[in-house]
Amino acid sequence: MVQQAAKEVIPLLTPYKMGQFELSHRVVLAPLTRCRSYGNVPQPHAAVYYSQRATRGGLLIAEATGVSATAQGYPETPGIWTQEQVEAWKPIVDAVRRKGAIFVCQIWHVGRVSTNELQPNGDAPISSTDKQISPDAESGTAYSKPRRLRTDEVSGIVDDFRRAARNAIQAGFDAVEIHGAHGYLLEQFMKDSCNDRTDQYGGSLENRCRLAVEVVDAVVREVGARRVGIRLSPFVDFVDCVDSDPVALGHYMVQQLNRHSGLLYCHMVEPRMATVDGRRQIPHGLLPFRKAFHGTFIAAGGYDREDGNKVVAEGYADLVAYGRLFLANPDLPRRFELDVALNKYDRSTFYTQDPIVGYTDYPFFEEEDGKNEESV
Ligand SMILES: Cc1cc2nc3c(=O)[nH]c(=O)nc-3n(C[C@H](O)[C@H](O)[C@H](O)COP(=O)(O)O)c2cc1C
Repeated sequence: MVQQAAKEVIPLLTPYKMGQFELSHRVVLAPLTRCRSYGNVPQPHAAVYYSQRATRGGLLIAEATGVSATAQGYPETPGIWTQEQVEAWKPIVDAVRRKGAIFVCQIWHVGRVSTNELQPNGDAPISSTDKQISPDAESGTAYSKPRRLRTDEVSGIVDDFRRAARNAIQAGFDAVEIHGAHGYLLEQFMKDSCNDRTDQYGGSLENRCRLAVEVVDAVVREVGARRVGIRLSPFVDFVDCVDSDPVALGHYMVQQLNRHSGLLYCHMVEPRMATVDGRRQIPHGLLPFRKAFHGTFIAAGGYDREDGNKVVAEGYADLVAYGRLFLANPDLPRRFELDVALNKYDRSTFYTQDPIVGYTDYPFFEEEDGKNEESV
């Protein structure tokens, strides 16, 4: 790394100070749901998977992790609302921290992106609304009709996020990332296509963002702003969750985040989540939010080595989160350093519940001198 840097500065591999954390590079593991946490309890194989992707001074964001028994929308996703789950996370966090990486837990509630089968007692999933998501013809997924949360139930959701954050810190995570993206519960309140409420959590932009803001405020009070990041996707239109004015929505949220001095980061997803393989142009629609936010800004969605270097060099983002490329390349920062070929990801095993296939078995790059130790 030192010799390489003398020859060529690779922007993604330059150090960065994020709050109290000294990052040695800017290649972040994006949160990736992997559906291998049986009974919502993270398993020992996750320690192998995450520590494979850990580097000294690297930032890893763990997969979306449920804040309560009603938070699940996919089979075998991890939770962090019971003591058993907290205890199960501890050795995983330890394995990552032993490698010197910074590990953040993404805390999550799916809201209506769920089915009765995944809910306690077969109940309806909860949401801002009782409008059902239209069935996804491509994947064959049909989500159940949700139940609109009563006004007096909303504070319970805030409390679930607060407790999950405390549990995550107790499990040893360095920080939490509030999942405010991709059409899940917080976005179901934020976006006007799926918030049809008439109480103080519906109607105006301020009202629609109220739940997300209350969650941020409560989590900051619980664990401190320096341990709180958030992921937002104002432009993304996943699971029928769209806003008629995503720029205003993003701006409003950034203003609310700026009230918390020292907030760890704001992580945003580019206007279209990449759905096609191969090259494409990243729209770079996040620039207004990057400029308005006072702290560390992470961009994600469709980045490769070249795009990542470009946006870091231009100051468009401080850090770049990689999803599918990091999933398939446990040594992604090292491969970027060497500028070598990448493993291809296998979409068919993204969410399969088998712990072995497509999980911890993606190969590391074999260096000719036999020294396959990370130097970034
Ligand atoms: C298998 C898979 C699981 C994902 N799980 C999550 C998740 O748990 N939380 C989240 O915020 N985004 C999730 N995403 C979105 C990724 O974090 C990322 O934003 C997306 O893959 C686009 O980035 P990429 O082009 O680098 O893959 C997931 C994506 C994939 C492919």
